[in-house]
Amino acid sequence: MARITAGVATSHVPLLGRAVDTGCTDEPYWAPIFKGYEFSKKWISQKKPDVVFLVYNDHASAFSLDLIPTFAIGCAEAFAPADEGFGPRPVPDVKGHPDLAWHIAQSVIQQDFDLTIVNKMDVDHGLTVPLTMMFGQPNQWPCKVIPFAVNVVQYPPPSGRRCLNVGKAIRKAVESFDEDLNVQIWGTGGMSHQLQGPRAGLINQDWDKRFLDMLVNDPQAAADIPHIEYLRETGSEGIEMVMWLVMRGALDPAVIERHRHYHVPCSNTAIGHLILENK
Ligand code: DHB
Ligand code: FE
Repeated sequence: MARITAGVATSHVPLLGRAVDTGCTDEPYWAPIFKGYEFSKKWISQKKPDVVFLVYNDHASAFSLDLIPTFAIGCAEAFAPADEGFGPRPVPDVKGHPDLAWHIAQSVIQQDFDLTIVNKMDVDHGLTVPLTMMFGQPNQWPCKVIPFAVNVVQYPPPSGRRCLNVGKAIRKAVESFDEDLNVQIWGTGGMSHQLQGPRAGLINQDWDKRFLDMLVNDPQAAADIPHIEYLRETGSEGIEMVMWLVMRGALDPAVIERHRHYHVPCSNTAIGHLILENK
């Protein structure tokens, strides 16, 4: 049977991709950020997932105000890096796992979550930057990736509770897939940040650190945080953190925290990163 062995959470700041693509990661501004991923790269080269179920948000690249799916699962054979205005990033295409993706779609929809099935989609920094942070610059990504897009761009995003519960449904779906696969689930985005308006630049380190603790040790409490608290305490883009709850919901109630990294500043955000393993 397929099984979910570990969860990874990471910010997906686009400038991180740019720093790697232009060879700047040793510069004093970037070095402490990338140092926090050295452990992670070694860890994942030993864990060798077959598939990463990658929870991310599209930033008006594949979707727009014309079409706003709350949860969308990528069922295609491959996904190309999106052109976000400066040409596509020089990274490999992402290879999907259509059989597992369709199986998860069937199972999760029949567990009463309405997923949008996507058979053609480009993937933006929300998905490619986490792959870069974990795998560096290979010629091909070393595993299959199932993109799972969550709407956190246009109000109303899903609640934290719904994200935790969809994570639980994803776990059930994976564990009923009849092939031996080592599957990881990643949650991306965050941490506190606001990119526009009078509060642009807002970062709330105390809140972020409490969220990391809560996500690890009391995910139900983290799931009960209302939208308005994310908005007030973590800025307009802090709501991206609900995607970490999808990841957490797919893991055991009690997990091993293998690694944590938190650093301010990273572009306009606090960068946060966790590696959690099922016992
Ligand atoms: C930044 C962070 C994001 O999560 C994003 O999607 C875009 C920009 C930033 O900090 O610059
Ligand atoms: Fe983002």
